[in-house]
Amino acid sequence: MHACKYVAGHSAYIFCLTMITEIIKGGGIERAAQIIKAGGVVAFPTETVYGLGANAFDERAVAEIYRAKGRPQDNPLICHIASVEEVSEVAAEVPDLFFSLAGKFMPGPLTVVLKKGNKIPYAVTAGMDSVAVRMPDNPTARALIKACGCPLAAPSANASKHVSPTTAMHVYDDLNGRIPLILDGGECRVGIESTVLSLVTPVPTILRPGAVTEEMLSEVLGEVKTHTGRIIAAAPAPGMKYKHYAPRCRAVLAQDAKDALNLYRSAESEGLKPVFISAGRMPEFDGLNVINMGRDEEAAARIYAALRDAEKAYDYIIVQKLDGGGVEKSVMNRIFKATANEE
Ligand code: TXA
Ligand code: MG
Repeated sequence: MHACKYVAGHSAYIFCLTMITEIIKGGGIERAAQIIKAGGVVAFPTETVYGLGANAFDERAVAEIYRAKGRPQDNPLICHIASVEEVSEVAAEVPDLFFSLAGKFMPGPLTVVLKKGNKIPYAVTAGMDSVAVRMPDNPTARALIKACGCPLAAPSANASKHVSPTTAMHVYDDLNGRIPLILDGGECRVGIESTVLSLVTPVPTILRPGAVTEEMLSEVLGEVKTHTGRIIAAAPAPGMKYKHYAPRCRAVLAQDAKDALNLYRSAESEGLKPVFISAGRMPEFDGLNVINMGRDEEAAARIYAALRDAEKAYDYIIVQKLDGGGVEKSVMNRIFKATANEE
């Protein structure tokens, strides 16, 4: 699979570590399952974002995910299952609470952290005794897991630290030459990653907010906390300590349209080419560079594509603050990180 080229004058072949990345739209499940069963990785659509999947029982296949993404080894992966019963394949001592949550939110954008089962290698959980489990609500994802006959360990299919992918082209832009196959299932419906909820903490704790909100979870759980820790090494979702969702140019947060206009004008005066990602139509910006992400569910579905489109065509991104509750809070969690400009 690796391309190999002979360089004249040199006595050896130079391995370029590139491979042809194929994109299949509609179908391709059997071919994808073949690759995964042979220990490879495949990108596939879910309702949240695209994932990069490998056999969760195969330590070497899982190592391939980290290599392809350039992901730090201490950031654990989510195990994707196709039916609720399969939870016993990945987790141990599954509490009743999990099944109550599953009855209401699975399949769907909820990941639950449980005690790790013996069959899951520590490569998946980054050495931890807990494991994250999710049952995606996307026909391609479910068909793929079934065809593989094993749970799929899968992070979002972006290059580490970059904005998550919500189309097959986003995956291609980041991982072309690094993975053999992308299953193209069109645009992701939800658009931001799943809510991560830990059931191994004394009180159920949201480690990453998503489309399944604290209010929705509290109806099932009663008490639920949201982890509000800063990006620290001891954060219970290890991934939280890393830079995330970073566009490839500077991105800043605007409190409102007026603030955005000031930032826009001063960027222009510095010779930059700014763009404003707005929450709805802003008449002040008529004739200027704007990408409208909308609000609520629409903003969730559009934010990552907006950031990716913005970084391609402009060199200074201004994002409008969303002040609503529910899913807007989860979108803001991503916007804060995208505009943190952390190293
Ligand atoms: O919607 C999603 O969740 C997507 C799709 C592909 O399913 N996946 C995704 O994976 O966002 P990733 O790897 O980009 O994010 C997984 C998050 C990370 O913040 C990681 O630290 C956390 O889940 N996580 C995974 N296993 C964990 C565990 N055992 N304990 C605590 N946090 C865990
Ligand atoms: Mg990710």
